[in-house]
Formats: sequence, structure tokens, C-alpha cells
Amino acid sequence: MNKQEKEMALVKLNDEWGRKDLPLKSVATHAVPGEGNPDTDILFIGEAPGKNEDEQGRPFVGAAGKFLDQLIAGIGYKREDVFIANVIKHRPPGNRDPLPEEIEAYRPWLEGQIEIIKAHLIITLGRFSMEFLLGPGFSITKIHGQPKRRNGRVIIPMYHPAAALYRGDLRPVLAADFAKIPKVLKLIREGEAVSEEKKKEEQKSQKSLF
Ligand code: URA
Repeated sequence: MNKQEKEMALVKLNDEWGRKDLPLKSVATHAVPGEGNPDTDILFIGEAPGKNEDEQGRPFVGAAGKFLDQLIAGIGYKREDVFIANVIKHRPPGNRDPLPEEIEAYRPWLEGQIEIIKAHLIITLGRFSMEFLLGPGFSITKIHGQPKRRNGRVIIPMYHPAAALYRGDLRPVLAADFAKIPKVLKLIREGEAVSEEKKKEEQKSQKSLF
């Protein structure tokens, strides 16, 4: 899919899911599906909208979002270059943690976004999106900043920017993890170039067999 096709597919997906009866819909002001460049290299996935996001219908627009914007700028990207989504698309009351059944109810919406965007790299922000993509049993303290492969996707789990707002010692940790992104992207692109080259070689040798 090209950029325009991805854009259209996302509009359709959000429209379908926006009309469904989801567990937190009745307590939220706006749905917050996510926003950004659908043809991006990097997809960021947070947890759930907070108060500001619920009011504006946009992800990461509060204090944590400002810090996320700074981290993104620190690696030479603009917010509009990347895509930012959340596991949960409606604000949980009082910003409580999402319940397991809520995560399951919203799962296909985020899975649909991931499938359409097909970013080279997914950055999970915080515990909930890490578990969404890697499954249970991981400790963010141990694996933050380490690229993982799942179903052909490269995922780097990172701390949530909000955690760094109340724990100042996590700010440099997050910045150091972000600093790894350009190198990982380069390696992924090189890997893809190699497999493209391999495919062409295989096609060539198959042709010469007949
Ligand atoms: N925290 C999140 O996880 N997502 C947002 O959109 C805002 C804050």
C-alpha cells in the first residue's frame, strides 16, 4: 500500500471501530485512535489517552507528550514523520490502568493499525504496550532499549515518557534508548536490502533452470 492507500485504510478502520460498542466508550469524551504519518518507519505505541488526549482526541498532547516530542526531535525526526498510537483508544476513568478484558477488546483495533502501517520499527512505551507485543513475563527494567523480533516485526520496548516525568533518573535512560533508534533502523533497512538482493538472485537462478 502506498501512503494514500494506508491513509484511506486507517480512516476506514477507525470509522469501523469508532462505531463499535467498546468498554470505555461511554465514559470517554473522544476516541483517540492515533495520528501521524501512516507510511512511517517508526510506530510508537503508548498505553491509553489521559485527560488532555480525551479532550482533544489526539494522542500524547499533555506533559508526557511534550517530552515524547523532545525525544523524537532528539533523533532528528518530527512528530509528523512518525505514527503515535495507544493500546486503549478511550480514556480509562481517572487514568487507572487498563483491565485485561479492556486490552483484549481494543486489541484488534491496534492490530489493524500495525498491519496497515507496517512500520520498520515499533517502539512500545511502558509496560502495557510491551506486553501487548511481546507477551507477559518481561520486565521493562531488564529489557528496555533491546530490539526484539516477533512475527517479522522489530520491537524496542522503552519506558513510558510519563514515568520519566516523576522519576528524573529515567530521563537519560529514555534518551539513551532513543539514541539507538537510527542505528537499528539502518540495520533493518540493510537487512531488507540484502533479502531483496537474495530474492532477485533466486528468481534469476530459477529462470536459468528452465
Ligand atoms: N499516555 C499514553 O500512554 N498515551 C497518551 O496518548 C497519553 C499519555
